[in-house]
Amino acid sequence: MKVAIMGYGTIGSGVAEVLRVNQEILKKKIGEPVELKYVLDIRESIPEDNDKLINDFSIIENDDEVGLVVETMGGIHPAYEFVKACLEKGKHCVTSNKALVDACGSKLISIAKAHNCNFYFEASVGGGIPVIRTIHHNYAGENLIEITGIMNGTTNFILTNMREKGADFGETLEEAQRLGYAERDPSSDIDGFDTSRKTAILLSMASGNRCRHEDIYTEGIRDISKLDFSYAHELGMSIKLLGSVQQVEDKYFAYVVPMMIPKSDPLFSVDGVFNGIRIVGNCLGTTMLYGMGAGKLPTASAVVSDIIAAVRHKNEFQGIGWSENMLEIEPMGSNAFSYFIRVEGTSSDIEADLREYFLNEDSELKPIVLDNRTDEFALLTDVMFEDDFLDNVKAFEAKTGRRIFHFIRTEKET
Ligand SMILES: NC(=O)c1ccc[n+]([C@@H]2O[C@H](COP(=O)([O-])OP(=O)(O)OC[C@H]3O[C@@H](n4cnc5c(N)ncnc54)[C@H](OP(=O)(O)O)[C@@H]3O)[C@@H](O)[C@H]2O)c1
Repeated sequence: MKVAIMGYGTIGSGVAEVLRVNQEILKKKIGEPVELKYVLDIRESIPEDNDKLINDFSIIENDDEVGLVVETMGGIHPAYEFVKACLEKGKHCVTSNKALVDACGSKLISIAKAHNCNFYFEASVGGGIPVIRTIHHNYAGENLIEITGIMNGTTNFILTNMREKGADFGETLEEAQRLGYAERDPSSDIDGFDTSRKTAILLSMASGNRCRHEDIYTEGIRDISKLDFSYAHELGMSIKLLGSVQQVEDKYFAYVVPMMIPKSDPLFSVDGVFNGIRIVGNCLGTTMLYGMGAGKLPTASAVVSDIIAAVRHKNEFQGIGWSENMLEIEPMGSNAFSYFIRVEGTSSDIEADLREYFLNEDSELKPIVLDNRTDEFALLTDVMFEDDFLDNVKAFEAKTGRRIFHFIRTEKET
């Protein structure tokens, strides 16, 4: 199989390296050599593979010897136009680009189908973690009830450091930028959009229908403070940015939010730049995939796994993906959570109000106070629908004149 790589940055050069280093293994496993013919980039020269460097896409498009194209340029344009043109020529395409898969995945999958080739995107979610193929093949016979993951190494690095060092968000973000774990403009990571795109891809895989990340309720981690972590520590919990997809009968729920999770949750111990994806199936029960969710060689390894699949299925459309039908996601207000709330003042004179708005009749009121602070305390509410909770917060504040400083959705210890 002759291959072209479009975009020779971190991942593209990683793919070339894996093809070089594992050349013999690949040949043995798939029965034919995988030969890198072209590297397309904007630059005039690149460190390795300079003899293969081209700047003109039409060379790849028009070379019938090239049977597979790897897209690692990033962004939607011109990645979409390039991949579309290659699929229309019957060339298999493999990408690590979640923005492309989220925005144009369903279109590219149907173009691949029409031209009897494949569009693969394993590396677009979870980097080196094989989540796409696991859902498609291994869990094909499961009714997938839930997929919830820590899918952004930057935010997980920041939250882990805040917990371990008792540091605040701003200083930890600066450290992450210094160490190269966060971009100079970190918005896509810390405001949750990167996780939201990956969640949209997982929701499309789970439902078989198309959804857009813009339709997924998304919150980032900017408002998480070291005080929140002090309370989480008292509760034996941690705070993680989670992307979650759930199916209840024929309804789909999805969101990206920071959550307080208990020690019993397998995602509790996914720390630093690592990713973890918990999958719950009706017969399977709970499993978790864990590993490097980004980085040159782990991500390139996932791209190469797609190259192998394409060689093995070179004469057939394999059908990994979803239809062009738009999925309707249930509104955020219809999700139910227990909430961690930080309330102004002390609880002594407002116990009846706290019970009225946040607890069931038979629940015990257990305020959490840090080092005898009198300016605020915290509480875990009983489980309630998000719409009801937000109404109750307003009603509580109006009646008592006390502010709810902050809330974080939680998963209760079971
Ligand atoms: N880095 C990771 O750990 C990781 C993990 C999973 C998925 N991904 C995804 O993989 C994709 C690539 O990421 P990356 O980190 O490898 O990015 P990168 O280092 O910026 O590499 C992209 C490369 O493509 C080149 N390029 C951009 N537009 C081009 C065009 N029109 N024609 C030819 N070449 C073009 C860039 O050239 P210039 O530098 O000159 O612009 C650069 O060399 C992104 O979609 C990213 O989200 C990355």
